[in-house]
Amino acid sequence: MSRDTAIRGGILVTDKERRRADILCHDGRIAAIGADIDIPAAATVIDAGGCFVMPGGIDPHTHLELPMAGTRVADDFLSGTRAAVAGGTTTILDFVGPARGEPPLDALAAWREKAARSVIDYGFHMTVSWWGDLFERQMTTLVRDEGVTSFKFFLAYKGGLMLPDADILAAFERCRDLGALAQMHAENGEIIAFLQEKLRTKGILEPRGHVLSRPPYAEEEASVRAIALAEAAGVPLYIVHVSTAGAADAIARAQSRKARVFGETLPGFLSIDDRVYGSPDFDMAAGHVMSPPFRPAEHQRALWRAIEDGVLSVTATDHCCFTREQKRLGREDFTLIPNGCGGVGDRMEILWELGVASGRLTPEQFVALTSANAARIFNLWPAKGCLAVGADADIAILDPARGRTIRAADQIQNTDFSIWEGRRVSASIVHTLSRGRHLWADGELRADPGHGRYVARRPYGPAYGVNPHTGL
Ligand code: URP
Ligand code: ZN
Ligand code: ZN
Repeated sequence: MSRDTAIRGGILVTDKERRRADILCHDGRIAAIGADIDIPAAATVIDAGGCFVMPGGIDPHTHLELPMAGTRVADDFLSGTRAAVAGGTTTILDFVGPARGEPPLDALAAWREKAARSVIDYGFHMTVSWWGDLFERQMTTLVRDEGVTSFKFFLAYKGGLMLPDADILAAFERCRDLGALAQMHAENGEIIAFLQEKLRTKGILEPRGHVLSRPPYAEEEASVRAIALAEAAGVPLYIVHVSTAGAADAIARAQSRKARVFGETLPGFLSIDDRVYGSPDFDMAAGHVMSPPFRPAEHQRALWRAIEDGVLSVTATDHCCFTREQKRLGREDFTLIPNGCGGVGDRMEILWELGVASGRLTPEQFVALTSANAARIFNLWPAKGCLAVGADADIAILDPARGRTIRAADQIQNTDFSIWEGRRVSASIVHTLSRGRHLWADGELRADPGHGRYVARRPYGPAYGVNPHTGL
């Protein structure tokens, strides 16, 4: 079989430009780009006429094979990454989740074993699920030797993942010294626990209790606090899954005083609102239980403004799937519903529909939001998120005229529920290449377990060279 694949006749799009050009991939990398490149006779040729040819998506926020809430998320690294590749995503960053007291290096070893079946490239963030000397010591090895250069903290989940501010400050300082990026799940866990108790006392145990116990102000307060903690420790901060106007404003204010703060949002938050929790159908309401929850529609308008202003620069999915049956663990008490929704395979098409097809975003902005910005922030650039000679041949081809209707019954993610059920998108990903390998070919999935490789990421900071794009 030829080691060359050519993509002919498409419109090439990066975060900076759009032009008609062909691409030649050789041995997993992009070997040539241009209007009149030589294509070897033996090359496999993909016809991209009428299509946009873009960097493969980077989803920097997934949870695969994660034990949680007395169960385990429904997708493993095989099903989750097969869903991803069919939706044009070629790299994920998944969260390693040590149990309380578990050494993070042990958790990393376990994640590496699980991820060996991934069909696309992957890297890891480390969840700082507890804090102590051992964690602190092992962070050095994680950053310097293992390529894990981002750490996620929680201001939510009291009695679980939530850490006190003092521990967060100590760990943030460690991140700064090591050249690592801090990430925050910004919701005020004390307020949530307080409201959960009040709701329980009132007998509100159904899924709407979830959204009632997690008000927008709990996210806003935690975002302001996370930024203040990061500024105090002098560490760059990336706030995950921003869902409210208040949190986006807090990030905008920090950016306007040149603080190194980045914001991520999810396509779900741009289009689904909190009315889903009022459904009388438990499965429907519980299927949308995630944290933070879907918000009243006015927040969507604020999130779009924040995207347009560059305040929120990354889209992810927070892919964390459960089946209807798993969600029923919380039938009698909303606090027991496993938190999380899916979408790793739908992100690109949904964002295209919401953003580009509606005229809100240019294709270049779409690339920035789905791959290039994440590549820069998470030190994957220029191998990923970029179509240039020498870059990994991670490529998604989108046909703007081939629509589809999203149905759980057709999906590859391992659940019987979709937050996008019945949504029509006007464009589809028709081909995906991962390091030159044609894994998604016009509806045919050719993704073998284990094609994906671990991507070790380099640390940030002056000792390692400041990234000119992000200042990190
Ligand atoms: O509800 C969510 N988001 N579940 C996944 C864990 C997290 O907080 O990101
Ligand atoms: Zn989170
Ligand atoms: Zn998450």
